[in-house]
Amino acid sequence: MAAASEAASPMMRTNSAASAASTRGCDGETTSAVWHSKNDMTRILCIETTCDETAAAVVGDGPTVLGEVVATQDALHQRFGGVVPEIASRAHLERILPVIDEALRRAQLRLDEIDAVAVANTPGLAGSLLVGLVAAKTLCVACGKPLIAVNHLQAHIYACRIAAGREVFPCVGLIVSGGHTSLYRCRNALEFEFLGGTIDDAAGEAFDKVAQMLGLPFPGGPSIQKAAAQGNPRAFSFPRALIDDARLDFSFSGLKTAVRYQLVGPGKPDFSKLDLSPQFVADAAASFQEAVVDCLVAKAMQALRASGLSTLCVGGGVAANARFRERLEDEARKGGFDLVIAPLKLCTDNAVMGAIALERFRAGLVEPLDLDAFPGLLRPKPSAERTT
Ligand code: KG4
Ligand code: ZN
Repeated sequence: MAAASEAASPMMRTNSAASAASTRGCDGETTSAVWHSKNDMTRILCIETTCDETAAAVVGDGPTVLGEVVATQDALHQRFGGVVPEIASRAHLERILPVIDEALRRAQLRLDEIDAVAVANTPGLAGSLLVGLVAAKTLCVACGKPLIAVNHLQAHIYACRIAAGREVFPCVGLIVSGGHTSLYRCRNALEFEFLGGTIDDAAGEAFDKVAQMLGLPFPGGPSIQKAAAQGNPRAFSFPRALIDDARLDFSFSGLKTAVRYQLVGPGKPDFSKLDLSPQFVADAAASFQEAVVDCLVAKAMQALRASGLSTLCVGGGVAANARFRERLEDEARKGGFDLVIAPLKLCTDNAVMGAIALERFRAGLVEPLDLDAFPGLLRPKPSAERTT
């Protein structure tokens, strides 16, 4: 790994903490490293393969986006109604090098003009994470660049920082994605304290599963949003679990079951054979969406009150939902808090949000090459069970 000693480098920058960052070599030993940056701008190649999007971006100070690519796998998973992990990792393997190549080409940069390689190594699907991690490590070895670890959930919140173009920390961070629904007190870009999260399904997962029951295409979020536009959100009275509870936790599995029982009784029905009218589907989609949005908005407001913070940052795939965005904006108008929702393009998985790596680089947080992938299958404890 590129852990050139200070004395060995003739081109040391003096105006960046990262230029003399402390790092550990392959053997875990701490060394002092110096990296040169052309024009004094730090440029990082960010790699994202946590789930089913193969993405790469080159970002610079600002943060600015110099080049980016997302290769979506939606078409590969569509007929299964959800992400199939093994298909996802194989597709990452085929796409990762062309995607990195294209991101560099769009940035008009060569690998040797990059200061570091960043990769999301947690949380995510084990096989998917490994593809990005191995690609990043290989580039680090081949080109002598430092390796930076990105936490995918923190990156989802950092998408708000990038879009805002100003400081957003400290804030309450709400991440609503296919795998997570979590609230954090974000002290700064790198220090997140878990406040609460789902005790069962993630909101995006519920969107995907309910869409499948209603015969709507994958990914479920955009399909439900589209169907809901023609439906009545009050047609069915679906449960809003934990909404009046003091805990900052969520639960969506009962809501999913309630939708199911609205369609069909117990047993193992073949949902593809249900004969549902378009109006029924629209009403069920609208009522389900409203119930999810009610829970998300209520808990975000509760977290703002409990934390005493006045900024709310919202990221993750479900933050692309139009009704959710509209309701958050209404609340921000009424409540007078500062709301930053990631722009649509940065809600679903992308590598641009890996620009959080710039913060780690500046703080000297560089990883050894034995960095591992952490799928993060164990959820943080629900707030009621936590002792601290
Ligand atoms: O953040 P993301 O791209 O991947 C994960 O980290 O999980 O989120 C994907 C999730 C999927 O469950 C998808 O159905 C949901 O985000 N999603 C939406 C919308 N667009 C994507 N959910 C509701 N409304 C949308 N417009
Ligand atoms: Zn995500």
